[in-house]
Amino acid sequence: MATLAPDVLQGRGALPAGRDTRVVVLSGAGISAESGLPTFRGDGGLWEGMRPEEVATPEAFRRDPALVWRFYEARRRALDAAVPNAAHRALVDLERALTPGSFALITQNVDDLHQRAGSQTVFPMHGELRKVRCTACGAFEERREELPALPTCDCGAVLRPHVVWFGETPLFLDRITPLLRRAQVFLVVGTSGHVYPAAGFIFEARAAGAWTVGVNVEEAEADWAYDAFHLGKAGSVLPELVRGWLKALLVIEMQEALRPHDGVTRGEATPGGAS
Ligand code: OAD
Repeated sequence: MATLAPDVLQGRGALPAGRDTRVVVLSGAGISAESGLPTFRGDGGLWEGMRPEEVATPEAFRRDPALVWRFYEARRRALDAAVPNAAHRALVDLERALTPGSFALITQNVDDLHQRAGSQTVFPMHGELRKVRCTACGAFEERREELPALPTCDCGAVLRPHVVWFGETPLFLDRITPLLRRAQVFLVVGTSGHVYPAAGFIFEARAAGAWTVGVNVEEAEADWAYDAFHLGKAGSVLPELVRGWLKALLVIEMQEALRPHDGVTRGEATPGGAS
């Protein structure tokens, strides 16, 4: 496989470059910040002045489902006003440029901005705000409209948001584990790395040999785990990064196309096929 040694190269090896390079992305709340959706941690974050246990655990829902629904319904309504930004769109460009099956996007985000931007292979491991499921019969559906204070299922039981709460197992882990093992490039965008298992994915992908890249407005705590780290807003950095990769791919493809092929040389040396 061809490799690139771009100026971002800081560590081991080089960035594998080809349309069949297996690229896995992990995104977090930071990628949607420029779409106006608050992150969880830090100033103005959703968890500021609030303990996640108050609204994001099965116990909280059992204790006070209406309170939990108030929190999630406000976030569902915030989605109506938000639109995908340049970072979401850059990941769509990357997916489209690669061979089908080479790209996968794991997101911790429960917003639908990756999907609305046009990403096809998305694993929303913490669930999806637009969906609800029944706490009794398991019925599951997309509900975009404003919901009553305590929405109920046709079977009469209370509905819950289709999101993963603390203490629950994230979704798609059976699909994600093999992706991490096969990834050649692992790109982490806009996540603080505080919540496991997602926070451990970079170590798994790196141990399996992936070239690791980070994009964040803050330095990563586990900075040693990144082969390249881009400090800045996802909406500015990611489009530039993807444009750079795609341009480099084109250059490699042009060089390949211009390289003399063995068959042509042999053909010229043996006109008429005589030997
Ligand atoms: P956090 O709020 O923990 O972290 C957001 C990250 O985005 C931080 O590292 C910021 O520095 C970074 N950031 C902010 N703006 C950015 C921008 N414009 N461009 C790039 N980076 C930016 O959110 P997550 O890491 O996604 O789980 O949180 C992980 C999980 O914790 C969430 O899925 C949620 C939460 O509790 C559950 O609810 C189960």
